[in-house]
Amino acid sequence: MTLKKIIPAVLLVLATMIGAAPAGAEDVEKVFKFYCAQCHGLTGDGKGINVTEDFPVTPRAFNNAAEMNKLTDADLRNVIREGGPIASKSEMMPPWSKTLTDVEIDDLVKKLRDLCQCKGKQG
Ligand code: HEC
Repeated sequence: MTLKKIIPAVLLVLATMIGAAPAGAEDVEKVFKFYCAQCHGLTGDGKGINVTEDFPVTPRAFNNAAEMNKLTDADLRNVIREGGPIASKSEMMPPWSKTLTDVEIDDLVKKLRDLCQCKGKQG
């Protein structure tokens, strides 16, 4: 390959990578891994790599159906958008409304329901 051919190829790869960053529905796994898994764990067990002993509270384990069933989908959306304090929870849970789109947040709510294998509180 000549340099003339390599440069556009590299640009194409870069463009694809950049294009993939703001996630669509199919990218919820990436969004979850990137923004949530450090604390909540890749499998949603609440034991992410960032969680240390100085955490005042442990991140919610999303695979705990009993706990996750106490919350409606709207509750989940709200706490993801606004952060822990909106639900009288710890500010260790950051707000995401400035980072993630509404679509991404809706997809995350579905992802959390997959992880807990629960439908959540209705209403
Ligand atoms: C810096 C660590 C951290 C990151 C990153 C983080 N969380 Fe949290 N999250 C927490 C902690 C800690 C709590 C528990 C707060 C409490 O119980 O007071 C929590 C609580 C929650 C709750 C509320 C559960 C409940 O029972 O009310 C939801 C929902 C949630 N997180 C979703 C997410 C999602 C989705 C992401 C990724 C976009 C995310 N979190 C990223 C630390 C984090």
